Amino acid sequence: MSDPVEMNISSDMDVVRARQEGRSKALLIGFSVSEATLIATAISELARNIVSYAGEGVVALQAVQTGSRSGLVIVAADKGPGIANVSLALRDGYSSSGGLGLGLPGVRRLMDEFDLVSAPGRGTTVTVKKWRPRM
Ligand SMILES: Nc1ncnc2c1ncn2[C@@H]1O[C@H](COP(=O)(O)OP(=O)(O)O)[C@@H](O)[C@H]1O
Ligand SMILES: [Mg+2]
Repeated sequence: MSDPVEMNISSDMDVVRARQEGRSKALLIGFSVSEATLIATAISELARNIVSYAGEGVVALQAVQTGSRSGLVIVAADKGPGIANVSLALRDGYSSSGGLGLGLPGVRRLMDEFDLVSAPGRGTTVTVKKWRPRM
């Protein structure tokens, strides 16, 4: 099991780096190239939201193994303004910034597990998991 990775995110460059790191880690733990690309996309969307809405935060990647399953956990956390209406933010096409509003709902669809904890003034933590398909 590879070591956890934690990356500070505050710039476009950090978003790109998080995306690349996510792709390599996914490949390292046995995901296919196409799965690794989807995982990298999800990481990129979460990191992009940190830069856009919170200014700075962290993205952590951790390989996990439970019983017969192995996969990757991604935690994207910030201490930014938080999200007042989480169910609205998860709706396709909702954006407070004139964006496409497909980031969070897209990440939810790409991953197997999705958890978002946020409150105004308290920041936002998104935890997602992707499991490797059983052989
Ligand atoms: N880390 C965050 N902190 C505060 N608000 C966020 C964060 N991530 C997402 N949001 C809010 O949720 C909305 C939807 O996010 P998303 O689906 O990625 O769409 P987009 O980024 O295109 O607006 C954003 O417009 C923003 O209002
Ligand atoms: Mg977004």
